[in-house]
Amino acid sequence: MSAPRTIIAVNGSPHVGFGNTALMLEMLRPSIEAAAMAFEVINLADKEISYCIGCGLCLEKGRCWINDDQASIVRQLLQADGVILASPVYFHQVTAQMKTFLDRCLALGHKPRPAWKPGVSVCVSAGWGETATGHYLASVLRTFGAFNTGTLAAMAAGPGEFTGREAVEQKAEDVARDLIRAVQEGRRVPATDEDFQYYLFMSSLIQKHQQSIMRHDHQHWQEHGLYDGFEQYIQQETAQTPGTDYDEIRQAWIEEQKAALKNRKKQGPEKGSKKQTVQDFSSCEDLIRNMPNGFLADSSPDLRAVYEFEVSGAEAFTAHLRIADGNCTYHEGPAREPDLVIRTPAEIWLAVARGELDGQQAFIKGDYTAEGDLGLLMQLKTLFG
Ligand SMILES: Cc1cc2nc3c(=O)[nH]c(=O)nc-3n(C[C@H](O)[C@H](O)[C@H](O)COP(=O)(O)O)c2cc1C
Repeated sequence: MSAPRTIIAVNGSPHVGFGNTALMLEMLRPSIEAAAMAFEVINLADKEISYCIGCGLCLEKGRCWINDDQASIVRQLLQADGVILASPVYFHQVTAQMKTFLDRCLALGHKPRPAWKPGVSVCVSAGWGETATGHYLASVLRTFGAFNTGTLAAMAAGPGEFTGREAVEQKAEDVARDLIRAVQEGRRVPATDEDFQYYLFMSSLIQKHQQSIMRHDHQHWQEHGLYDGFEQYIQQETAQTPGTDYDEIRQAWIEEQKAALKNRKKQGPEKGSKKQTVQDFSSCEDLIRNMPNGFLADSSPDLRAVYEFEVSGAEAFTAHLRIADGNCTYHEGPAREPDLVIRTPAEIWLAVARGELDGQQAFIKGDYTAEGDLGLLMQLKTLFG
């Protein structure tokens, strides 16, 4: 009988056995074991792993020379059928334990293929940073040649105090299911711009340093045909939907668009696109805001004037219209130096504009008042039709 497929999880939390990260990993276990796969959790807190000193020798040799527990964990990860990187958020990022381990895996990040295997990231915070950190762990998986089939992220302040525990458990089931299917069926997740950017960056970096520090990486990329293109690298081909001739569909669509455009030009402006009239405005503010649209520039081309409206009643607001250089513009609030101030209840101004009330009569009756250059009041009708 062949050995069962194995999923290895690396947990960066110091809370071994009882922490929230550990609890989330245990949420994945039942599905994994039900699929007859072995599930092992490696707790970095139980391991001796020194800091990366940045010597770069791993790039030349293919592995780190520092002798501690890092090497055996990497061996297990490379042999596993699926991998999980899990960490709580410590100051907006993974824990120091996880980061130290990842730094020591630099060599894996330069030889991502064919280490290609499905992976999952797991992350928990007290309430700030689990989404970004989960995404970070997913992109680390990418640099190691794994592809992320899902991320389980949750919030939990104290041990076991998950926000929406049931939802976290359900998500755990989904994440485990997708990981299992990817392992069993050799599924891929669709490549994304992040895969593409990583590929472009890494291939150019390694080619640039192929004679020096990245000689070993360069050989690896050559041997595995990784330079042959992105599709070769991601092991997925670009393909059209079978039986569909997109060229033909596109050509027919272009012809249709041309004919429709020609037709529209022949018919002139569309029906229903008529100009707005004062009857269309239900509020006084809307009416005054739209007055510039009805401005008849030719009626007084040299006029420079500022009309201020102080509206009360059903609507209370102040706005002003500025007329200069054949243009009329609307502005909220009072003007600095208005030439004419019109003080009116909203309903009176609407009624005057709609022709339901005679403007002059209403002024004489004191329904609204005006202060300043009253000649401008008389000019309103000519200016706005
Ligand atoms: C040093 C330290 C830093 C932390 N930083 C954050 C943080 O930036 N954002 C946050 O939401 N929680 C933060 N936390 C809280 C943990 O992420 C949270 O308690 C988590 O559930 C612990 O998971 P664990 O039990 O698996 O270790 C921090 C906790 C510690 C000890």
